[in-house]
Amino acid sequence: MKVIAFNGSPRKKWNTATLLNKALEGAAAQGAETELIHLYDLNFKGCVSCFSCKTRGGKSYGKCAVKDDLTTILAQVEEEAGAIILGSPIYLGTASGEMRSFMERLIFPYLTYTDPPQSLFPKKINTGFIYTMNVTEEQKELFGQHFIFNEMLMGLIFGSTETLFSFDTYQFEDYSKVVADRFDPEQKAQRRNDVFPKDCEKAFDMGTRLAKQ
Ligand SMILES: Cc1cc2nc3c(=O)[nH]c(=O)nc-3n(C[C@H](O)[C@H](O)[C@H](O)COP(=O)(O)O)c2cc1C
Repeated sequence: MKVIAFNGSPRKKWNTATLLNKALEGAAAQGAETELIHLYDLNFKGCVSCFSCKTRGGKSYGKCAVKDDLTTILAQVEEEAGAIILGSPIYLGTASGEMRSFMERLIFPYLTYTDPPQSLFPKKINTGFIYTMNVTEEQKELFGQHFIFNEMLMGLIFGSTETLFSFDTYQFEDYSKVVADRFDPEQKAQRRNDVFPKDCEKAFDMGTRLAKQ
């Protein structure tokens, strides 16, 4: 079983990447082969609305016809992955722009415009989504529809999905250097020490579950 994780944060060693690495550790503990792909390292765009993936009898029906750095990766997901994990910080209330662009290319080609919508993805795989954000669990309802909609899409296209949230994350190397009076640096540091390790454990457990066939 191969498990591929996608980092939708530009930061390769911060909250999102750390949780994705933990999830992959959990998957590796089950014997899975793992890979972490940083979306910000890739040259790609979101969907360009060419509809090749929806063209009746077309050679790209059910596949993304755009050729760029995502081309081989999307083929790898279809042909090799037994599970995928998407990880993203919340940027202005949704997953980051890179993650949104990636999701357009990953999901839309498989999503039919039938009633009800169906999936053209050729098999069932396990999927997970990890979100990290500044807001607290109580404030998450602000973005609630976004999470529910993504869960619905991932479940519909790939067969199953689960979601992990990491709230109130530690955002800056040094809080004294930024204008961010809204945050209490001590409270943030305490949460990073007390709660973030628990989020890491949850990510590890998620990886363990996703790596099971
Ligand atoms: C451009 C930008 C927009 C953000 N918007 C939000 C937001 O709308 N809500 C929120 O809770 N956090 C927001 N954040 C904070 C990040 O989601 C949070 O710090 C996240 O854990 C960062 O992930 P990383 O450490 O993996 O880079 C924003 C951060 C940036 C850089």
